[in-house]
Amino acid sequence: MLAVAAGRLGPAVAVADAERLPVSAGAVDTVVMVWVLQLVARVERVLEEAVRVLRRGGHLAVVLAAPAGPPDEIDGIVRPMYLALLPPEGRQDRPELVVELARAAGLRLVHRCLTTPQHYGESPAEEADRLERRTAAILLDLSPEAFADLVAPVVAALRALPRPDEARRRSAVHDLLVFRREP
Ligand SMILES: C[S@@+](CC[C@H](N)C(=O)[O-])C[C@H]1O[C@@H](n2cnc3c(N)ncnc32)[C@H](O)[C@@H]1O
Repeated sequence: MLAVAAGRLGPAVAVADAERLPVSAGAVDTVVMVWVLQLVARVERVLEEAVRVLRRGGHLAVVLAAPAGPPDEIDGIVRPMYLALLPPEGRQDRPELVVELARAAGLRLVHRCLTTPQHYGESPAEEADRLERRTAAILLDLSPEAFADLVAPVVAALRALPRPDEARRRSAVHDLLVFRREP
């Protein structure tokens, strides 16, 4: 990903913590966060840092990680497991909370929509493999007991679908929030 960015932008590419960007205050027109806020330690600090680097009137575009489209055959099996793994208060990047924290940081919501569907092929077996490899951050620290209780039955259910190695056409759709830094 960094190599692709560096190929397009050259030495402007930097790797940094989203809470401490190596960018001067008010230096950029636009900040983009795609599937990031679900992972950071402090959503409010990341939003404040975006405000710091944005010029007045600049925009922040946030694509949230939670799937926002109708569940397909694989989602129908996998999504309840992810819901069960969430803390009682829900996702830290749920849209209403991000809007509230952004407002507190000095950002006004100016547009909200769904992303254009991105179509891709994936088989139930591939999804099961990804679960077993714990590629989702929320699975990384699961105890062996919790993995056996919550994830293993989902893996088994995916592999039990008809033709589990056959790719299904899937669509990724996500919430897109656009904020403007208040002048
Ligand atoms: C699910 S990936 C999304 C990557 C990319 N935006 C995309 O759309 O494919 C999440 C990214 O957030 C980055 N990330 C997580 N916490 C971060 C933080 N505190 N500061 C900067 N990046 C962070 C991870 O390194 C990872 O590259």
